[in-house]
Amino acid sequence: MSSSLKQNRAHLMVPKKVSNKKLVSRVLIGIAVLFMMLPQMAASQQDVAAYFKQNCASCHWIGGGRLVGPDLQNASARAERDWQIRFILNPKGMLDAQDAYALKLKDEAGGALMTNVPGITREWAEALIDFIDAVMDFRQ
Ligand code: HEC
Repeated sequence: MSSSLKQNRAHLMVPKKVSNKKLVSRVLIGIAVLFMMLPQMAASQQDVAAYFKQNCASCHWIGGGRLVGPDLQNASARAERDWQIRFILNPKGMLDAQDAYALKLKDEAGGALMTNVPGITREWAEALIDFIDAVMDFRQ
């Protein structure tokens, strides 16, 4: 047992002891890397806003009331995240499949239909939902 443990350790190359100095420098490197990534993270948030503006904002406000489609403020409180992802990826398919909540939303929208967004991916849908959850007011 102990010999196999030793082997595992050798295999994973786990150092037996890390000096404090090394530990501090590793933490500092970690922090530096995190800071280098920050502008990228901020840029991706901007990308999502631009994506929303281009593909969703013509029909949806966040926090401004109904446009063509419902106000997306608190949308996450009205439907499961999984439902939202499926609907954003394929609204037409959900309506064709007679999804009860989708049909109710369509009624409330006076029969207006959410159109499929060409080329949308699951990653975009997830990012859009996070964006909608985080933004209090978006009207463009
Ligand atoms: C052409 C107008 C239109 C566009 C563009 C559009 N939607 Fe919609 N959306 C609607 C309508 C209308 C509904 C209500 C269901 C229906 O009638 O199809 C809806 C419903 C929704 C819902 C469910 C809201 C709730 O109250 O539960 C979400 C979430 C949603 N849209 C997100 C988006 C996102 C994200 C985009 C951009 C990728 C988008 N929509 C683009 C018109 C649109």
